[in-house]
Amino acid sequence: MRENPLVLHVLGARPNFVKAAPVVRALGELGVRQGIIHTGQHYDALMSDVFFADLGLPDPVANLGVGSGSHAKQTAALLVGLEEVVQEQEPDLVVVYGDVNSTLAAILVCAKLGVRTAHVEAGLRSFDRGMPEEVNRVVTDALADLLFVTSPEALSYLANEGVPASKVHLVGNPMIDSLFSALPSLDPAPVVERLAIPARYAVATLHRPANVDTPEAAKELVDAVLEVARQIPLVVPIHPRGKARLAAAGLVDGESIKVVDPLGYVDFLSLVRGSALVVTDSGGVQEETTMLGVPCLTVRPNTERPITITHGTNRLVTPALLPAAAEKALADGAATPAGELPVLWDGQAGPRIAKVITAWLKGDNLAPASQAKRPS
Ligand code: UD1
Ligand code: UDP
Repeated sequence: MRENPLVLHVLGARPNFVKAAPVVRALGELGVRQGIIHTGQHYDALMSDVFFADLGLPDPVANLGVGSGSHAKQTAALLVGLEEVVQEQEPDLVVVYGDVNSTLAAILVCAKLGVRTAHVEAGLRSFDRGMPEEVNRVVTDALADLLFVTSPEALSYLANEGVPASKVHLVGNPMIDSLFSALPSLDPAPVVERLAIPARYAVATLHRPANVDTPEAAKELVDAVLEVARQIPLVVPIHPRGKARLAAAGLVDGESIKVVDPLGYVDFLSLVRGSALVVTDSGGVQEETTMLGVPCLTVRPNTERPITITHGTNRLVTPALLPAAAEKALADGAATPAGELPVLWDGQAGPRIAKVITAWLKGDNLAPASQAKRPS
């Protein structure tokens, strides 16, 4: 390894920023030379800049500005842009996060260039190859050199796919690290006042292609969400992906529903913290509600995060069952998490990842944490 090795983080979409912040901070504290490559997959200020500010992320060393497009067009632009910048920067390790197209493109580029890689949030599986993210997860984990796992069930999934245990480290959840760091700043009151909503309210976020990409799915979902809004005032910070389709299906401001632009990280989590119920199809929000003890109804047929059901406040629902499930969750009051918080969701995932990376950069082969932590 070189004298002063360089670590590059490839980030592109909203959840990437949240997961990377604790890792970047922890590596910085260990004096590691590093830089962020922003692919520009998300580019609106409310989908990108606000996260750099709220999470204290340093400015990227490059922004590839790839923008939006079909999977093929976006991934192709990502491949071309990333190949150039990785060749130019000559990193010793590239760290990728989560399951978005920027993650997939970065792992492919590095594999072909012979650049070593680490995947943060490895081993999550919905076992639903109809989800673009599932394809990205499987390919990324097949190619990564270091795999950082947030949840114990991922260990057996990766083992079943033939990933050697020596590459895999159960480190906890960096998205929860970010939440721990933000906790003292999370105050629902100013957001509630700005949005002019009552003190008791629910929040919904919806952006999965299966829910918002066809008029039929959007209509079924919106009808169910409007039913929830008849039970409790509902705020919907709307992801740009679903904006037009959901509006066409009837998701517009009404007496008991407020459809607003995406919120910044601190504002959004403040709102979630003060809410009586969250309805979502987000991956990250399932984890954050588990940590905050807020009831969460996930409008999906499956989840790659089952630990949020077994150890948290999450339930899967169909659109048809959503109104009744909301009624029950609201009647039950404060959520009682099903068990203890998931193992190692303690705000220390970033430092654990940084420790493994720095040892790896020195050529030490740290015993994978997964060996010590694997459940019997
Ligand atoms: C992407 C991820 C998804 C993740 C989500 C997080 C993939 C395949 N999907 O989905 O896993 O849950 O990010 O939010 O990578 N758009 C804007 N402004 C922006 C960004 C996007 O208007 O700043 C609009 C564009 O119309 C675009 C659409 O949103 O076509 C979808 O964006 P894209 O990045 O392709 O996928 P997401 O649905 O955001
Ligand atoms: N989030 C946010 N503002 C919003 C909606 C979500 O800051 O209006 C945050 C949320 O707290 C979580 C992350 O964005 O940290 C999740 O991103 P998203 O739901 O877009 O992606 P997913 O997790 O589904 O991949």
